[in-house]
Amino acid sequence: MTRVERKSEMSISDKIKRSMAQGSWVRKMFEEGASFKRRYGEENVFDLSLGNPVMEPPVEFHQELKRLVENPLPGMHRYMENAGYPETRAAVATQLSLETGIKFTMNDIIMTCGAAGALNVVLKTILNEGDGVIIFAPYFPEYTNYIDNHGGIVRILPTDEQFIPRLDILETTIGAKTRAVLINSPNNPSGSVYSEDFVRQLGELLGKKETQYGTQIFLVSDEAYRKIIYDGRKYPQVWPYHQQSIVVTSHSKDLALPGERIGYIAVNPACRQREELVDGLIYCNRTLGYVNAPALMQHVVSRLQSVTVPVAEYQKKRDFLYAHLNEMGFSVMKPQGAFYMFPKSPLEDDVAFVRELQSWRVLTVPGCGFGAPGYFRISYCVDDRTLEGSLAGFGKAAQKFNLC
Ligand SMILES: Cc1ncc(COP(=O)(O)O)c(C=O)c1O
Repeated sequence: MTRVERKSEMSISDKIKRSMAQGSWVRKMFEEGASFKRRYGEENVFDLSLGNPVMEPPVEFHQELKRLVENPLPGMHRYMENAGYPETRAAVATQLSLETGIKFTMNDIIMTCGAAGALNVVLKTILNEGDGVIIFAPYFPEYTNYIDNHGGIVRILPTDEQFIPRLDILETTIGAKTRAVLINSPNNPSGSVYSEDFVRQLGELLGKKETQYGTQIFLVSDEAYRKIIYDGRKYPQVWPYHQQSIVVTSHSKDLALPGERIGYIAVNPACRQREELVDGLIYCNRTLGYVNAPALMQHVVSRLQSVTVPVAEYQKKRDFLYAHLNEMGFSVMKPQGAFYMFPKSPLEDDVAFVRELQSWRVLTVPGCGFGAPGYFRISYCVDDRTLEGSLAGFGKAAQKFNLC
């Protein structure tokens, strides 16, 4: 007897089924990497596929954790205000004021479950069904899922050779339905950092378009890697250049705490209708089911706002890898921040090239996973042994494809 599949027998929605079938290249490479490690042994596989920082959190993190365990505060594990502890929000505001020269208060800050939680809260709060959100390729692949989660329509625009968004194309793309432009600097996957001049021009363009259409266009700045910036560069802030700006960030990378899910949203104190926006963000933090950011982590990061992992160590890894890839003949932009490199694939088909590297047990991610075919991403937040071990595979690929 043939079995009839009834719609009611399907355990997941059609939409989720379709999205899962498309999958994520980062996840796929991670899973393939795990199987490679089982087959060849961990030490013979050079996994540069995931953005999972190898560094341990700074010593101050463990000290603070210990202090809290030994001196528990009454009620420290209970529910709190959905925006987070006032003292944590105030600590974030104080640090931000120091870094930016702009006066933030706790009322501009909402503690979240990482930058991912923060992005979902922001998009849920500002988007009407069918509103446009512009992102730039290459981009963090979860953006398209997050925008879709909240009924937004994604528009993907190109960047230039240095992976800087093309403002001329943005100008002709923004329309009456554009609700937000989402930027990410330092960038995952390219490692590019936008200049102050770029941020100023972007702000001017958004202001002009708001006037033209009589709308609010939010500049959502994903600053998950803001503190991981090299060569003594000063981070260009978005705040002075666009009133309707919102920053999302976390301590996943700057304190190496991605598993702890702690981050925050900061709203421009100069934002029009700021109070309504902040109330909406707090409401969505609750109704998306996050309720509040993890209590223990809020207590801990309160006192760690001025602490960062040793960025010089990431810079050393960048210099090492960049020098070797360059010498081998790879075409690659020197990253100015984050911990990724995004070289051109020697083969037009980036998936085929990533497979070639796999044959030498070097695991990377094809650029098509970031909306930028023809490139591949290397994550260098790994230990030195893995980085050094990967060079043989890159060298063989360079020889095979005549890069030198
Ligand atoms: C650009 C970018 N944004 C957001 C996130 C999410 O960060 P979190 O772990 O804080 O949610 C990541 C994580 O890798 C990222 O690369």
